[in-house]
Amino acid sequence: MRDELLSPEPGEDEIDVDFHDNGLRPSSLAEFVGQAELKDHLEIVLGAAKRRSQAADHLLFAGPPGLGKTTLAHIVATEMGVTLHSTSGPALERAGDLAAILTKLEEGDVLFIDEIHRLSRNVEEVLYPAMEDFQLDIVLGKGPAARSVRLPVARFTLVGATTRTGLITGPLRDRFGLVARLDFYETDDLDQIVRRAADILDVEIDQPGSYEIARRARGTPRIANRLLRRVRDYAEMKHDGVIDANIANLGLAVFGVDGRGLDKVDRAILSAICERFGGGPVGLSTLAISVSEPTETVEDVYEPFLIQQGLLMRTPRGRMATPASWDHLGLTPPTTTKDALPQGLFD
Ligand SMILES: Nc1ncnc2c1ncn2[C@@H]1O[C@H](COP(=O)(O)OP(=O)(O)OP(=O)(O)O)[C@@H](O)[C@H]1O
Ligand SMILES: [Mg+2]
Repeated sequence: MRDELLSPEPGEDEIDVDFHDNGLRPSSLAEFVGQAELKDHLEIVLGAAKRRSQAADHLLFAGPPGLGKTTLAHIVATEMGVTLHSTSGPALERAGDLAAILTKLEEGDVLFIDEIHRLSRNVEEVLYPAMEDFQLDIVLGKGPAARSVRLPVARFTLVGATTRTGLITGPLRDRFGLVARLDFYETDDLDQIVRRAADILDVEIDQPGSYEIARRARGTPRIANRLLRRVRDYAEMKHDGVIDANIANLGLAVFGVDGRGLDKVDRAILSAICERFGGGPVGLSTLAISVSEPTETVEDVYEPFLIQQGLLMRTPRGRMATPASWDHLGLTPPTTTKDALPQGLFD
């Protein structure tokens, strides 16, 4: 049950991951909380396109899981008043898969490709002319008899989502008119998200209660919503169903969420580095094996927040604990670690 608090598999399992969340998804930019700068940019880009009665420019949303990339793709289609066609990088195995979708698009439609960094090379090559010239080059037949035909594609808006901009090829990234990075949310924004969700779910919660959940949601709306549901379960089973700061505290403790919002995998990562590898540096794959998680999950799901919180460092030689991570685990760094750390850290 605790593992459910974080969703290690973004994308493909989206439907399962967000199954309970669907009613909570904001459907317009106005309802979308936080990410003020990104919202400003989107309002301008979408507003201008609407005024010109044109399809909006291609958009790329990048950032850790659960921050609202898929939600934004839906919002773009709603704001533009067009149909959203949804697929993902791994689902488009052959060039023909993408061609089939592209030929179905109507003027202005949004094509959403989740996990766009996982597109195969030949599919990506079909995408380039479609994005740029709204044309599809298809090769018919094989060998000497093969010929290439060029088909027009309706002017569409490609919305790509990725947890890792670093894995997107240069030519693909360059073809997006706007590359937007989603950052972890401020506690005040998450507080608003929790209260909105409580309203929709008909949960009684006071302000200190929602703030406590927001503060411990790893800067992530998906986790905020999930923690709210778990605390609600706790409040209903053990109390009268009303959530205040005390109930939130007790409920979060039951589900293994600590004072900083770290869950048991976060803590396992930190304690592996500190206790098993003397504070590091330790390679990513070794670290992943030692906490029994896939390397991509450690890199995409867990590390970004730990780094943002100053609890972990990525160095050329591997992952390292910071003074704050020793402190958080209640451990004293061994004196030998001093030599391994970059100068100045413990001065
Ligand atoms: N700004 C927001 N305001 C309110 N709720 C939000 C916001 N952003 C996300 N959410 C909630 O968080 C959930 C997760 O968001 P979403 O599925 O869009 O994340 P994602 O970035 O696509 O994640 P992944 O990388 O795992 O696919 C949504 O179902 C929605 O309820
Ligand atoms: Mg998504």
